[in-house]
Amino acid sequence: MRPFIIAGNWKMNTTLSEAEALVREMCRDLEGNTLTHVQMVVCPPFISLHSVHEIIRDTEIALGAQNMNEHDAGAYTGEISAAMLRSAGCEYVIIGHSERRKYFHETDELVNVKIRKAVEHGLRPIVCVGELLEERESGATVEVVSRQVRGAFSGLGADHVRTCIIAYEPVWAIGTGRTATPEQAQEVHEVIRGLVRESAGDEIANQFVIQYGGSMKPENAGDLLNQPDVDGGLIGGASLKADSFLAIVQAAESIGRER
Ligand code: PGA
Repeated sequence: MRPFIIAGNWKMNTTLSEAEALVREMCRDLEGNTLTHVQMVVCPPFISLHSVHEIIRDTEIALGAQNMNEHDAGAYTGEISAAMLRSAGCEYVIIGHSERRKYFHETDELVNVKIRKAVEHGLRPIVCVGELLEERESGATVEVVSRQVRGAFSGLGADHVRTCIIAYEPVWAIGTGRTATPEQAQEVHEVIRGLVRESAGDEIANQFVIQYGGSMKPENAGDLLNQPDVDGGLIGGASLKADSFLAIVQAAESIGRER
């Protein structure tokens, strides 16, 4: 069975001391609980990666970054490379989040290049896709998401695809309190798994982790995670509080146990 992966995307929140306090609280709350069906990941801002890693080093929590540059090194003022992320303890990196697509003009082509670079450096990309509200309302959801997934995976070998995770995040559900219904999520997740099958075959598609993101919280996590093709969550707002993030992790853990 596929493991659940629950990742917290802290976005541009928390100073260094706040990040340390938040992750310490998560570690404390987790103590004594062994997670056997869930991988928990936190993605703090760049400046906190190293210190957070020091705190979670011997725990079940893994570290991810929210973005990276597609070049190896050089004159790219203000940017962070894949090798830098690895050296800070990252195992995961979010790529192509809708906020990066919207505010920083990231395209499917750039997402594709970043995925290659991330995998080359041993990072697991969490690749974000999802439609805008007007695209959903005009019935273009499957077309938009398919274009994004095909663009992200264009020319990638099966070994690259195998390393990736896709987060389906309907843009209208991000930070709005409006969540996709479990049925809406399942419908798109099934399409995504079909696209993975198309590019990398059955075996990889069956093992492939597809997260849902967009106002996931303790109250709706169970219903979403119960869908057959929903294998975890990418959590924004609810990952900034230890208790709500851990409640989502525990919901995944108990569903995992029953499967
Ligand atoms: P949200 O954000 O949970 O606050 O909606 C999710 C995300 O943007 O990854």
